[in-house]
Amino acid sequence: MPLSENNISQRLSTSLRGMQILLNVCESMRLLMSEKKEGTVYYQMSQMARRYLTSSSKESLLPWIKFYSETVYPCAQHSVHAVREGKQQIGKQFGDKNMNYFDVMYSSREQAVLYLDVMSSAWNICGEDVVTAFDLSSFKNVYDLGGNTGALAKKFISAYPQSSVTVYDLPQMIHTARTYDKLIKDSQISFQEGDLFKDPIPTADMYIMARVIHVLSEDKCIELLRKVYTACKPGGAVVVVECFLKDATDEVITANTQHFLMALATEGKERTPKEMSLLLENAGFQDVQIKETGKIYDPMIGRKVLK
Ligand SMILES: C[S@@+](CC[C@H](N)C(=O)[O-])C[C@H]1O[C@@H](n2cnc3c(N)ncnc32)[C@H](O)[C@@H]1O
Repeated sequence: MPLSENNISQRLSTSLRGMQILLNVCESMRLLMSEKKEGTVYYQMSQMARRYLTSSSKESLLPWIKFYSETVYPCAQHSVHAVREGKQQIGKQFGDKNMNYFDVMYSSREQAVLYLDVMSSAWNICGEDVVTAFDLSSFKNVYDLGGNTGALAKKFISAYPQSSVTVYDLPQMIHTARTYDKLIKDSQISFQEGDLFKDPIPTADMYIMARVIHVLSEDKCIELLRKVYTACKPGGAVVVVECFLKDATDEVITANTQHFLMALATEGKERTPKEMSLLLENAGFQDVQIKETGKIYDPMIGRKVLK
Protein backbone atom coordinates (compact mmCIF):
# COMPACT_ATOMS: atom_id res chain seq x y z
CA MET A 1 0.00 0.00 0.00
CA PRO A 2 1.45 3.44 -0.92
CA LEU A 3 2.47 5.51 2.13
CA SER A 4 3.15 9.22 2.51
CA GLU A 5 6.61 10.42 3.53
CA ASN A 6 5.15 11.58 6.86
CA ASN A 7 3.65 8.19 7.49
CA ILE A 8 6.88 6.35 6.59
CA SER A 9 9.07 8.55 8.78
CA GLN A 10 6.65 8.17 11.73
CA ARG A 11 6.45 4.39 11.37
CA LEU A 12 10.23 4.06 11.21
CA SER A 13 10.85 6.74 13.89
CA THR A 14 13.10 8.87 11.68
CA SER A 15 13.32 12.58 11.01
CA LEU A 16 11.10 13.74 8.16
CA ARG A 17 14.01 15.52 6.44
CA GLY A 18 16.28 12.45 6.57
CA MET A 19 13.49 10.21 5.27
CA GLN A 20 12.63 12.62 2.43
CA ILE A 21 16.23 12.51 1.24
CA LEU A 22 16.36 8.71 1.48
CA LEU A 23 13.05 8.35 -0.40
CA ASN A 24 14.30 10.63 -3.18
CA VAL A 25 17.48 8.62 -3.55
CA CYS A 26 15.59 5.30 -3.57
CA GLU A 27 13.22 6.64 -6.21
CA SER A 28 16.09 7.80 -8.41
CA MET A 29 17.51 4.26 -8.13
CA ARG A 30 14.09 2.92 -9.21
CA LEU A 31 13.63 1.07 -5.92
CA LEU A 32 10.53 3.15 -5.14
CA MET A 33 7.74 4.73 -7.21
CA SER A 34 5.95 7.88 -6.11
CA GLU A 35 2.57 9.33 -6.89
CA LYS A 36 1.20 12.78 -5.90
CA LYS A 37 -2.39 12.92 -4.63
CA GLU A 38 -3.98 16.15 -3.36
CA GLY A 39 -0.60 17.69 -2.65
CA THR A 40 0.83 14.65 -0.78
CA VAL A 41 3.48 12.34 -2.24
CA TYR A 42 2.90 8.61 -1.69
CA TYR A 43 5.62 5.99 -2.13
CA GLN A 44 5.55 2.27 -2.83
CA MET A 45 8.14 -0.34 -3.76
CA SER A 46 8.92 -0.78 -7.46
CA GLN A 47 8.46 -4.19 -9.04
CA MET A 48 12.23 -4.64 -9.12
CA ALA A 49 12.52 -3.98 -5.37
CA ARG A 50 9.65 -6.38 -4.62
CA ARG A 51 11.33 -9.04 -6.70
CA TYR A 52 14.89 -8.75 -5.40
CA LEU A 53 14.75 -6.95 -2.05
CA THR A 54 11.95 -8.57 -0.09
CA SER A 55 12.75 -11.56 2.10
CA SER A 56 9.61 -13.42 0.95
CA SER A 57 10.59 -13.32 -2.74
CA LYS A 58 12.09 -16.50 -4.21
CA GLU A 59 14.59 -14.29 -6.03
CA SER A 60 15.57 -12.31 -2.92
CA LEU A 61 19.08 -10.88 -2.94
CA LEU A 62 19.00 -9.86 0.71
CA PRO A 63 21.58 -12.47 1.83
CA TRP A 64 23.83 -11.21 -0.96
CA ILE A 65 23.53 -7.59 0.19
CA LYS A 66 24.17 -8.51 3.83
CA PHE A 67 27.21 -10.59 2.81
CA TYR A 68 28.73 -7.81 0.73
CA SER A 69 28.16 -5.16 3.38
CA GLU A 70 29.40 -7.25 6.32
CA THR A 71 32.12 -9.40 4.75
CA VAL A 72 33.34 -8.15 1.38
CA TYR A 73 33.09 -4.35 1.47
CA PRO A 74 34.84 -4.02 4.86
CA CYS A 75 37.90 -5.54 3.16
CA ALA A 76 37.89 -2.56 0.80
CA GLN A 77 39.58 -0.46 3.47
CA HIS A 78 42.63 -2.61 2.74
CA SER A 79 42.49 -1.92 -1.01
CA VAL A 80 45.78 -0.02 -0.97
CA HIS A 81 47.52 -3.06 0.53
CA ALA A 82 45.78 -5.42 -1.90
CA VAL A 83 47.19 -3.41 -4.79
CA ARG A 84 50.65 -2.90 -3.26
CA GLU A 85 51.08 -6.52 -2.20
CA GLY A 86 48.97 -8.23 -4.90
CA LYS A 87 47.50 -10.39 -2.12
CA GLN A 88 44.12 -11.02 -0.54
CA GLN A 89 43.32 -8.99 2.57
CA ILE A 90 40.37 -10.92 4.00
CA GLY A 91 42.46 -12.56 6.75
CA LYS A 92 43.65 -9.16 7.97
CA GLN A 93 40.07 -7.91 8.10
CA PHE A 94 38.98 -10.90 10.16
CA GLY A 95 41.81 -10.83 12.68
CA ASP A 96 44.35 -13.33 11.33
CA LYS A 97 46.24 -12.55 8.15
CA ASN A 98 46.93 -16.25 7.56
CA MET A 99 43.22 -17.07 7.21
CA ASN A 100 42.12 -17.63 3.64
CA TYR A 101 38.71 -16.90 2.12
CA PHE A 102 37.15 -20.24 3.09
CA ASP A 103 38.64 -20.16 6.62
CA VAL A 104 36.70 -16.91 7.05
CA MET A 105 33.53 -18.21 5.37
CA TYR A 106 33.31 -21.21 7.71
CA SER A 107 34.73 -19.46 10.81
CA SER A 108 31.43 -19.05 12.66
CA ARG A 109 27.91 -20.36 12.45
CA GLU A 110 26.47 -16.95 11.39
CA GLN A 111 29.11 -16.41 8.73
CA ALA A 112 28.73 -19.92 7.31
CA VAL A 113 24.93 -19.82 7.16
CA LEU A 114 24.99 -16.42 5.48
CA TYR A 115 27.57 -17.64 2.97
CA LEU A 116 25.48 -20.70 2.10
CA ASP A 117 22.40 -18.51 1.58
CA VAL A 118 24.40 -16.16 -0.65
CA MET A 119 25.74 -18.96 -2.81
CA SER A 120 22.30 -20.51 -3.29
CA SER A 121 20.46 -17.26 -3.97
CA ALA A 122 22.30 -16.58 -7.23
CA TRP A 123 20.95 -19.76 -8.80
CA ASN A 124 17.32 -18.82 -8.14
CA ILE A 125 17.93 -16.01 -10.60
CA CYS A 126 20.30 -17.42 -13.20
CA GLY A 127 20.66 -21.15 -12.50
CA GLU A 128 18.24 -22.30 -15.17
CA ASP A 129 19.86 -20.08 -17.84
CA VAL A 130 23.29 -21.46 -16.95
CA VAL A 131 22.36 -25.16 -17.07
CA THR A 132 20.26 -24.94 -20.25
CA ALA A 133 22.63 -22.74 -22.31
CA PHE A 134 24.19 -25.96 -23.70
CA ASP A 135 22.31 -29.20 -24.22
CA LEU A 136 23.87 -31.31 -21.43
CA SER A 137 21.28 -34.10 -21.55
CA SER A 138 23.78 -36.74 -22.69
CA PHE A 139 25.75 -36.45 -19.43
CA LYS A 140 24.12 -38.78 -16.91
CA ASN A 141 26.69 -39.07 -14.12
CA VAL A 142 27.60 -35.54 -13.09
CA TYR A 143 29.82 -34.15 -10.32
CA ASP A 144 29.37 -30.58 -9.11
CA LEU A 145 32.84 -29.80 -7.75
CA GLY A 146 32.69 -27.22 -4.94
CA GLY A 147 28.95 -27.52 -5.40
CA ASN A 148 28.06 -26.06 -2.00
CA THR A 149 24.46 -26.77 -0.87
CA GLY A 150 23.44 -28.25 -4.23
CA ALA A 151 21.40 -25.25 -5.40
CA LEU A 152 22.83 -25.37 -8.93
CA ALA A 153 22.69 -29.19 -8.93
CA LYS A 154 18.94 -28.85 -8.27
CA LYS A 155 18.55 -26.63 -11.34
CA PHE A 156 20.54 -29.18 -13.34
CA ILE A 157 18.28 -32.06 -12.27
CA SER A 158 15.17 -30.02 -13.07
CA ALA A 159 16.47 -29.44 -16.60
CA TYR A 160 17.84 -33.00 -17.05
CA PRO A 161 15.71 -35.40 -14.98
CA GLN A 162 17.52 -38.46 -16.41
CA SER A 163 20.82 -37.40 -14.76
CA SER A 164 22.13 -37.58 -11.23
CA VAL A 165 24.51 -35.15 -9.56
CA THR A 166 27.02 -35.70 -6.78
CA VAL A 167 27.91 -32.50 -5.00
CA TYR A 168 31.55 -32.63 -3.89
CA ASP A 169 32.64 -30.10 -1.27
CA LEU A 170 34.76 -29.56 1.82
CA PRO A 171 33.68 -31.55 4.92
CA GLN A 172 33.24 -28.37 6.97
CA MET A 173 30.85 -26.96 4.35
CA ILE A 174 28.78 -30.15 4.17
CA HIS A 175 28.65 -30.52 7.99
CA THR A 176 27.59 -26.91 8.48
CA ALA A 177 24.98 -27.06 5.74
CA ARG A 178 23.62 -30.34 7.13
CA THR A 179 23.48 -28.95 10.68
CA TYR A 180 21.45 -25.94 9.55
CA ASP A 181 19.29 -27.91 7.15
CA LYS A 182 20.65 -26.09 4.09
CA LEU A 183 21.55 -29.12 1.92
CA ILE A 184 19.19 -29.63 -1.02
CA LYS A 185 17.10 -32.76 -0.61
CA ASP A 186 16.53 -34.63 -3.85
CA SER A 187 16.77 -38.35 -4.62
CA GLN A 188 18.99 -37.58 -7.64
CA ILE A 189 21.43 -35.42 -5.69
CA SER A 190 23.98 -36.85 -3.27
CA PHE A 191 26.82 -35.25 -1.31
CA GLN A 192 30.43 -36.31 -1.05
CA GLU A 193 32.95 -34.79 1.33
CA GLY A 194 36.42 -34.17 0.02
CA ASP A 195 39.19 -31.73 -0.67
CA LEU A 196 39.68 -31.17 -4.38
CA PHE A 197 43.43 -30.79 -3.91
CA LYS A 198 44.12 -33.55 -1.39
CA ASP A 199 41.58 -36.26 -2.25
CA PRO A 200 40.88 -38.13 -5.47
CA ILE A 201 38.28 -36.73 -7.87
CA PRO A 202 35.94 -39.56 -8.87
CA THR A 203 35.36 -40.45 -12.51
CA ALA A 204 32.26 -38.88 -14.08
CA ASP A 205 30.70 -37.99 -17.45
CA MET A 206 30.68 -34.32 -16.65
CA TYR A 207 31.93 -31.90 -14.02
CA ILE A 208 30.33 -28.60 -13.11
CA MET A 209 32.73 -26.04 -11.62
CA ALA A 210 30.70 -22.96 -10.78
CA ARG A 211 32.52 -20.02 -9.20
CA VAL A 212 35.34 -22.34 -8.16
CA ILE A 213 38.08 -21.26 -10.56
CA HIS A 214 37.77 -17.57 -9.73
CA VAL A 215 38.81 -18.04 -6.09
CA LEU A 216 42.02 -19.90 -7.00
CA SER A 217 45.52 -18.77 -7.90
CA GLU A 218 46.70 -19.45 -11.48
CA ASP A 219 48.85 -22.42 -10.35
CA LYS A 220 45.97 -23.99 -8.44
CA CYS A 221 43.60 -23.53 -11.39
CA ILE A 222 45.98 -25.42 -13.64
CA GLU A 223 46.61 -28.16 -11.04
CA LEU A 224 42.88 -28.64 -10.45
CA LEU A 225 41.78 -28.55 -14.09
CA ARG A 226 44.44 -31.14 -15.00
CA LYS A 227 43.18 -33.36 -12.17
CA VAL A 228 39.62 -32.97 -13.45
CA TYR A 229 40.71 -33.77 -17.01
CA THR A 230 42.44 -36.96 -15.82
CA ALA A 231 39.33 -38.05 -13.89
CA CYS A 232 36.89 -37.22 -16.71
CA LYS A 233 35.57 -40.09 -18.84
CA PRO A 234 36.60 -39.88 -22.53
CA GLY A 235 33.65 -38.25 -24.29
CA GLY A 236 32.94 -36.30 -21.13
CA ALA A 237 33.20 -32.59 -20.33
CA VAL A 238 33.75 -29.87 -17.80
CA VAL A 239 31.39 -26.90 -17.53
CA VAL A 240 32.97 -23.87 -15.89
CA VAL A 241 30.55 -21.17 -14.77
CA GLU A 242 31.92 -17.72 -14.04
CA CYS A 243 31.25 -13.99 -14.27
CA PHE A 244 33.45 -13.40 -17.32
CA LEU A 245 35.29 -10.18 -18.03
CA LYS A 246 34.41 -8.71 -21.39
CA ASP A 247 36.66 -6.74 -23.77
CA ALA A 248 38.46 -3.82 -22.20
CA THR A 249 36.40 -1.56 -24.45
CA ASP A 250 33.18 -2.86 -22.94
CA GLU A 251 31.91 -1.07 -19.89
CA VAL A 252 30.92 -4.09 -17.89
CA ILE A 253 30.96 -2.78 -14.37
CA THR A 254 29.66 -5.96 -12.69
CA ALA A 255 32.47 -8.23 -13.83
CA ASN A 256 35.14 -5.60 -13.26
CA THR A 257 33.93 -4.83 -9.74
CA GLN A 258 33.81 -8.55 -9.06
CA HIS A 259 37.36 -8.81 -10.47
CA PHE A 260 38.66 -6.31 -7.91
CA LEU A 261 36.71 -7.83 -5.03
CA MET A 262 38.10 -11.28 -5.83
CA ALA A 263 41.63 -9.88 -5.63
CA LEU A 264 40.75 -8.26 -2.31
CA ALA A 265 39.25 -11.36 -0.72
CA THR A 266 40.77 -14.41 -2.47
CA GLU A 267 43.83 -15.69 -4.34
CA GLY A 268 41.82 -15.54 -7.56
CA LYS A 269 40.40 -13.14 -10.13
CA GLU A 270 37.79 -13.04 -12.89
CA ARG A 271 38.93 -13.94 -16.39
CA THR A 272 38.08 -13.14 -19.99
CA PRO A 273 36.65 -16.03 -22.04
CA LYS A 274 39.99 -16.21 -23.86
CA GLU A 275 41.96 -16.56 -20.60
CA MET A 276 39.58 -19.25 -19.34
CA SER A 277 39.65 -21.22 -22.58
CA LEU A 278 43.47 -21.21 -22.47
CA LEU A 279 43.31 -22.67 -18.96
CA LEU A 280 40.93 -25.41 -20.11
CA GLU A 281 43.03 -26.21 -23.19
CA ASN A 282 46.19 -26.25 -21.10
CA ALA A 283 44.54 -28.94 -18.93
CA GLY A 284 43.75 -31.02 -22.06
CA PHE A 285 40.11 -30.07 -22.76
CA GLN A 286 39.18 -29.43 -26.39
CA ASP A 287 36.35 -27.90 -28.41
CA VAL A 288 35.97 -25.14 -25.80
CA GLN A 289 32.84 -23.02 -26.23
CA ILE A 290 31.09 -20.33 -24.22
CA LYS A 291 27.40 -19.33 -24.22
CA GLU A 292 26.28 -15.91 -23.04
CA THR A 293 23.15 -16.06 -20.92
CA GLY A 294 22.68 -12.27 -20.76
CA LYS A 295 22.87 -12.55 -16.97
CA ILE A 296 25.82 -12.28 -14.60
CA TYR A 297 27.10 -15.88 -15.00
CA ASP A 298 27.94 -17.68 -18.25
CA PRO A 299 28.88 -21.34 -18.81
CA MET A 300 31.97 -22.46 -20.75
CA ILE A 301 32.25 -26.10 -21.83
CA GLY A 302 35.44 -28.02 -22.60
CA ARG A 303 35.35 -31.62 -23.83
CA LYS A 304 37.58 -34.64 -23.36
CA VAL A 305 37.41 -36.14 -26.80
CA LEU A 306 37.11 -39.87 -27.46
CA LYS A 307 40.45 -41.15 -28.78
C1 LIG B 1 32.67 -19.65 -4.36
S1 LIG B 1 31.92 -21.11 -3.76
C2 LIG B 1 30.91 -21.64 -5.12
C3 LIG B 1 29.86 -22.62 -4.70
C4 LIG B 1 28.97 -23.17 -5.81
N1 LIG B 1 29.74 -23.85 -6.83
C5 LIG B 1 28.14 -22.07 -6.38
O1 LIG B 1 28.50 -21.54 -7.44
O2 LIG B 1 27.13 -21.73 -5.77
C6 LIG B 1 33.26 -22.29 -3.80
C7 LIG B 1 32.89 -23.62 -3.21
O3 LIG B 1 34.04 -24.47 -3.30
C8 LIG B 1 34.20 -25.15 -2.07
N2 LIG B 1 35.63 -25.44 -1.93
C9 LIG B 1 36.62 -24.57 -1.69
N3 LIG B 1 37.81 -25.20 -1.64
C10 LIG B 1 37.54 -26.52 -1.82
C11 LIG B 1 38.36 -27.69 -1.84
N4 LIG B 1 39.67 -27.62 -1.68
N5 LIG B 1 37.75 -28.88 -2.05
C12 LIG B 1 36.39 -28.96 -2.21
N6 LIG B 1 35.58 -27.88 -2.22
C13 LIG B 1 36.14 -26.68 -2.02
C14 LIG B 1 33.67 -24.19 -1.02
O4 LIG B 1 33.32 -24.84 0.19
C15 LIG B 1 32.49 -23.57 -1.74
O5 LIG B 1 31.32 -24.33 -1.57
